[in-house]
Amino acid sequence: MTGTLPDSGRDPQQILSELAQMGADDPNYKQGRLWSLVYYLDESYHAFQGQAWQMYASGNGLNPTAFKSLKRFENDIIASTAALHHGPPEVCGVVTSGGTESCLLAVKTYRDMARATRGVRRPEMVLPRTAHVAWVKASAYFGVRIRWLELDGQLRADVSRLPQLINRNTVMVLASAPEYPHGTIDPVEAMARIAHDRTVPLHVDACVGGFILPFMEMNGIELPPWDYRVPGVTSISADLHKYGYASKGVSTITYRSMDLLKHQMFVDVDWPGGVFASPALLGTRPGGAYAAAWAAMQYFGRSGYQELARRTMQAFTRMRDGVLAMPELRVLGAPSGPLLAYGARDKAVNIFAVGDQMELRGWQINRLQKPDGLHAMITAQHLAVIDDYLRDLRASVDAVRADPTLADRGGAATYGMMAHIPLRGMVRSRVLDMFSGLYRPGGGEIDLAHAATPSEPGQEPPRAAWADRLAQWFVRMRQR
Ligand SMILES: Cc1ncc(COP(=O)(O)O)c(C=O)c1O
Repeated sequence: MTGTLPDSGRDPQQILSELAQMGADDPNYKQGRLWSLVYYLDESYHAFQGQAWQMYASGNGLNPTAFKSLKRFENDIIASTAALHHGPPEVCGVVTSGGTESCLLAVKTYRDMARATRGVRRPEMVLPRTAHVAWVKASAYFGVRIRWLELDGQLRADVSRLPQLINRNTVMVLASAPEYPHGTIDPVEAMARIAHDRTVPLHVDACVGGFILPFMEMNGIELPPWDYRVPGVTSISADLHKYGYASKGVSTITYRSMDLLKHQMFVDVDWPGGVFASPALLGTRPGGAYAAAWAAMQYFGRSGYQELARRTMQAFTRMRDGVLAMPELRVLGAPSGPLLAYGARDKAVNIFAVGDQMELRGWQINRLQKPDGLHAMITAQHLAVIDDYLRDLRASVDAVRADPTLADRGGAATYGMMAHIPLRGMVRSRVLDMFSGLYRPGGGEIDLAHAATPSEPGQEPPRAAWADRLAQWFVRMRQR
């Protein structure tokens, strides 16, 4: 295995300029062309976050009694978050490394609590079909079986089906505010009532909404209740590195009381390295991320976040109305913002072909399935480009209408097959192989050319070849 470790150290300026060059083919998020992954405002705010990070870059939150500064940041972040979510004074919590860690922790906590307090040995949880995939990962990691709550006609969790999914093994119920695929807020109040009546905890995944919904409400937007004002809500996850505009690596998980949070904690008194206690998944916890998150909250304050929410919702409304004005398209579900998804209303328009056309015009957009759609995680930055986006969307739809064969080519053909070929097991194993390839010694690269190559006209590719192409396409999408 080879690497680039030099025999002796290099000039820092040279290294920095090389670092800058290495990002040359990264997504063009600074111009608002990317519609997921990044929450970027401008270079001066980016530099400010960098400075805050740098001041505590060596700090380690592993032992909360060592770096008192980091514990102060954490206390303040959690207290402010709990207040934003209308928590009573008993609400407590932990800063984590991201939404996934917060989701994993909720599942671990409620599994362990059910085991300790009710002797549950075969834990189950109820997840709406739109739950973020981090919850499926948590199921796999912690051995908690999923009971799926199907959706209603608005793609919202169908609360009428919830009672029959809860049984003595249920350790938690999940609701999202909003869910990732369509930006719909689950019926938290009704779900929490049912869970509460059966003394089952209800977690709200507000990884997306936690730092924008409160400010949307302050701006006068009416939203269904989703936070601690709903009595049966027992915990909330909320990401600062999304709509809190903090540098990557910071989320929060809060619980209604310490009786719950204590089941998240890990203590070992026999380790030869000393007595060890840890509140979350990580050992070492990055001081820089904590400092940058605290700095973000101080920088914006309530009024700054309200202004970001105002701009974001202006962009959201323009995009939603722009999509609704195109008769070939439809908005999926009933999004409250800040994100939305749209699909095709007109059967002659293949939405994945529209996605390919948008890509040709320089936009990077995630694809959805079940139902097929295109996705937009809208931020304040996007207000400046929304008109360009809609103009290109119109042109992309026209291009697909004018040439229906676009649906049989490239990404559209590959992705579209997903709906029709029952090859999921094969696709899964090929994705795993390809992903392993990315992490083999030396770090491979996936041959994307193959994924986008159309089959010969009139020739049906063999099933395994389709599985390969689908897998490549998926891996490619996930790199976005
Ligand atoms: C609703 C929801 N929950 C959890 C997550 C996971 O967050 P992260 O990517 O920070 O791990 C996401 C990510 O988009 C999300 O949308």
